[in-house]
Order: sequence, then C-alpha cells, then structure tokens
Amino acid sequence: MTNRLTHRSRSVANKVVLITGAASGMGRATAFLFADEGARVAVTDLNPDGVQAVVDEIRTAGGTAHGTVLDVTDPTAIEQAIAEIRHELGPIDILVNNAGITAGSPIDDPSFDQVWDLALNVLLTSQQRLVRACLDDLKASGEGRIINIASTEGISAQRNATPYTAAKHGVVGLTRSLAVNLGVFKITVNAICPGPILTGMTDEIPPDLRDQFARRRTALRRYGDPEEVAHMTLNLALPASSYITGAIIPVDGGLTAKND
Ligand code: NAI
Repeated sequence: MTNRLTHRSRSVANKVVLITGAASGMGRATAFLFADEGARVAVTDLNPDGVQAVVDEIRTAGGTAHGTVLDVTDPTAIEQAIAEIRHELGPIDILVNNAGITAGSPIDDPSFDQVWDLALNVLLTSQQRLVRACLDDLKASGEGRIINIASTEGISAQRNATPYTAAKHGVVGLTRSLAVNLGVFKITVNAICPGPILTGMTDEIPPDLRDQFARRRTALRRYGDPEEVAHMTLNLALPASSYITGAIIPVDGGLTAKND
C-alpha cells in the first residue's frame, strides 16, 4: 500500500520502557522485543550479571538499553533507580511490572506467614510502589502505559499456592483500580495473566511433568514461550492501544477457557 488508511501508531520507537525482573524469562523476552521495536529499554532486576547480559545483548544487536540493579521490595532503591533511568534514557512512558518469584506454602505450614509476606511484597506491593514512583512521568507522557504481569493464578487457584494466588488476585484488583483512577491522565493500566510459560520459574519442573500438565490443562497442549507473552505486553503498550484499560488478559494457551 502506498497510502495508509488508518492513523493510529503501532510504534514504540524512542519510548522509554522500564521492565522489572528483566534478567530472565518473560522480562528478558520483553526487553528484547521492545529493543527490536526501537524503544529505549531500562533493564532492571535483582541479578546484576543477568542485567548486564541482557543490556549487552541489546547493545550488540544495535538497540538502546540501560541496566540498573533493582530489588523491587526496596522503596529507596526504586526512587534511586527511577532517577537514574530518567537521567540515562529520559522520562518513563511505559512501565512493565514483571518481577516475580514462586511462593507456595500449605496454609498449615509453620513458614506460611513468612512466605505470605514475601509474596505480597515482591508480587503486589512492589507494583504499586513502581507506579507511584513513575507517575509524574507517565502523566506527562500523554500516552502512559502500565502493564502488570499477573497470572492465571490471579483468576483461579491451584493447591498449596495461597500466598502466590492471593498476591496475583491482588494484582488484578490493583490493575482495575489504577485503570479507573488514572484514565483521567490518559494512562492505560492492564494486566496479563500468563499460563504455563517456559522460564527460570518453571525450569526446575521435570519435563515429563510439564508436558503432562500442558497436555491435560491447555487447549494448545504445550507450554508457552516467553516471547509469546512479550508480544501481548508490546500490544498493550502501543499508542494505538489507547482504548484498552482495566483489561485482564490471559495468555495461557487456552488454560482458563478449558473445562474438561
Ligand atoms: P523468571 O524466574 O524467569 O524471572 C523472574 C525475574 O524476576 C528473575 O530475573 C528474578 O531475578 C527477578 N526477581 C525476583 N525477585 C525480584 C525482586 N525482589 N526484585 C527484582 N527482581 C526480582 O520467571 P518468569 O516466569 O519470567 O516470571 C515473570 C513474571 O511472570 C512473574 O511475575 C511471575 O509470577 C509471572 N508468571 C510466570 C508464569 C510461568 O509459568 N513462568 C506463569 C504466570 C505468571
């Protein structure tokens, strides 16, 4: 086509995107995809070697990235990281709250309280802290985007994962509430609920158990690839996705649709 018939932009070129937990799995795949699309990528994670490796790969491929070691449970570190990113890359347009851990514990286990506190801190509290720290930038952007990574555990529950499930349901509630409150600033807020995805988090599950689970529970009968989630994140971040907010979107191979 020589002339386009539509006018909404599908480009994130030069947008500044901050991704938490970007050293591994879905965060890493998301960093690579945004870099491929010309965004300026703030790669943050607990793991310094992982951050450096992702930044190096992006730069070697010709992209723009800045790495910051960030523990999302540390409020002071969040403020410092945002200031550094703003200085290195510019004000933040897109926030991807992705960092996560597995946090299961039977309700009658002596460690339950400890696991509960950690799960809520890493998976939920951190997300609102990141949002508050980026809020001025997101408001100024005019096309501010927040994408929170929840889970199919944010929609239903598996056995012995109460802290994780409660935290991920919290992410769904946080997302809807922020969407309602931030719409006035043209900031969209959405959550993605990945199903079983092959990442650092699921790496330790023996392959035969993974296959069995995927065949039984998903319509597509397989685990997902981290990049398959990253593409949804990118879609939600596009300027053209300006009327999608408060949505809770499964990227789960049909797990939540399947009931047999
Ligand atoms: P992953 O283990 O490959 O990556 C998680 C990253 O988060 C790691 O690089 C880790 O260092 C980082 N991280 C952990 N605690 C942190 C902290 N306090 N501060 C900063 N970074 C921290 O796991 P994956 O699967 O890529 O996880 C990404 C998100 O997806 C998580 O929120 C997870 O709960 C969610 N998820 C994962 C699913 C899966 O099947 N892998 C399914 C549904 C949701």
